[in-house]
Amino acid sequence: NRDLKAKLLEINKIAATYYYHQLKAENGKIGLSYLQKRGLSDTTINRFGLGYAGQTGNALYQYLKSKGYDDALLKETGLFTYERGIHDKFWNRVMFPIMDINNKVIGFGGRVMGDAKPKYLNSPETKLFDKSRNLYGLNAARISRKSNMIICEGYMDVISLHQAGFTQAVASLGTALTPGQAALMKRYTDNVLITYDSDAAGVKAALRAIPILKEAGLTTKVINMQPYKDPDEFIKALGAEAFQERIDKAENSFMYEIGVLEKEYDRIDPAESTKFEREAAAKLVTFREKLERENYMRAVCDRFHIELQGMRELVASLGSKE
Ligand code: GTP
Ligand code: MN
Ligand code: MN
Ligand code: MN
Ligand code: MN
Repeated sequence: NRDLKAKLLEINKIAATYYYHQLKAENGKIGLSYLQKRGLSDTTINRFGLGYAGQTGNALYQYLKSKGYDDALLKETGLFTYERGIHDKFWNRVMFPIMDINNKVIGFGGRVMGDAKPKYLNSPETKLFDKSRNLYGLNAARISRKSNMIICEGYMDVISLHQAGFTQAVASLGTALTPGQAALMKRYTDNVLITYDSDAAGVKAALRAIPILKEAGLTTKVINMQPYKDPDEFIKALGAEAFQERIDKAENSFMYEIGVLEKEYDRIDPAESTKFEREAAAKLVTFREKLERENYMRAVCDRFHIELQGMRELVASLGSKE
């Protein structure tokens, strides 16, 4: 098994190098100009080892065969498809090698250069690649325990953030954040900033990530990318200083959750307002420590214009029911 892993790492490295050279070759100009159009410098492209998978049907497969790798082994890489013959899984895409913390290539993401679907193709899980235990960009990230880690959705978000100087950014590889990824974060820092997309999917993903990060013992805040869609688009439009301001204004994750909840209610209607306050109380009662609970009650009541004494009584009544 260890032997197999070593072989797979070797092949992934060859594949990454192959894609990288294609990006710099005449035929790869389309890929290079796509990345340049998205604002990436040559330094950034090289730092992340970006590449290009060409138009040809099985060029990578032929290349690896010519190096003597056998079919059984190549099948384990996840780089090929086996319907109606053997083909390269990735073609006509810009390529993002996914590395572990030791800078070993464990998988790939590939993006189409237009609007075709699927927008991204990712390596399947292999003997090497466990999506739930890796974070894209962590190998390139600089993080100290006292500073924060930025968790965002996509490859391009991580790369744009690093290029803008936010080298503490990582991404969760397109899956929902897992406890394994949260534990990995906790090895490097105590503070996480969620910077997911500002669309409904991103909000939902943030709400799911918050308890997982909390469970791992991480202090979590949420950065709002409005009116832009994601960190990549935000940085492109407003620049690094504006992003730093958003970091400084990052919201306490509990207050973020209550803010999302509040939007579900039309509080002009007293019935709706009451429902919202009951929901908020049900969340507030989960703070076991009195001082902390009081602080959160004040913050929630202040922000959402709720009468504090009424909320205290509501929360107390919920607590006594347990
Ligand atoms: P750009 O359009 O290149 O800026 O991509 P994005 O990162 O903004 O895309 P999006 O917010 O839609 O997706 C975030 C991340 O989810 C991507 O970086 C991918 O890792 C993953 N993802 C997005 N689209 C797909 C898809 O069609 N298939 C799969 N498997 N993953 C996807
Ligand atoms: Mn998508
Ligand atoms: Mn998204
Ligand atoms: Mn996005
Ligand atoms: Mn994007």
